[in-house]
Amino acid sequence: MSQPHKAVVAAAKFRDVIRHLASGVTVITASLAGEPVGMTATAVCSVSATPPSVLISLQSNSRTALGVAESGFLGIHLLRHAGRDLAEQFASRGQHFANINFERNAETGVPLLHDVLAWLLCTVEQTIPAADHTIFVARVLDGELKDRAPDPLLYFDRSYRQLALGAEPATKNLEPWGSAQDTGLPGWGWP
Ligand SMILES: Cc1cc2nc3c(=O)[nH]c(=O)nc-3n(C[C@H](O)[C@H](O)[C@H](O)COP(=O)(O)O)c2cc1C
Repeated sequence: MSQPHKAVVAAAKFRDVIRHLASGVTVITASLAGEPVGMTATAVCSVSATPPSVLISLQSNSRTALGVAESGFLGIHLLRHAGRDLAEQFASRGQHFANINFERNAETGVPLLHDVLAWLLCTVEQTIPAADHTIFVARVLDGELKDRAPDPLLYFDRSYRQLALGAEPATKNLEPWGSAQDTGLPGWGWP
């Protein structure tokens, strides 16, 4: 019997394509053995508004993934364009929390960073191993949009980017949640 087709795209070709997927930049934080851990991450995606859920994909052997798995809680911080230093520090081999302004959430111990565009506090609901990463599906417990005229940090084609000056919001306010509008529930963004 013939084998099923198992061709896999070359890693270089895959990277060539996927680096053109523009994304916002976040810092994920957690607590590992009582110490704050955190990393820069773009693999963050909303899952559902009802209940509010997200997923993140973290390299399984990273300190942050270990902290999320151990504590069951995490923080997701959306960075400002002016917060590029945070993205660089939290992706570096150095001390991620050196000279960083943050506080620990009292109930969960999750480090919440001060100088960010927005943050979400989440609890892990599902843990899914995938290749050398772990996907965490998490319920959102709390959140805050700190900046009503945001200038987000973006990542595209291996560089940090900024929204173009004059890039106007779409004339139509697109509602990504489908039926959320009908039920009067908030869409993206916190009311
Ligand atoms: C722009 C950017 C996006 C990144 N996104 C992710 C990601 O989504 N998941 C991941 O596991 N690592 C990602 N990384 C790599 C981690 O930030 C990096 O490996 C970090 O040092 C891990 O820290 P830790 O081991 O202390 O947790 C990204 C790095 C950069 C620069």
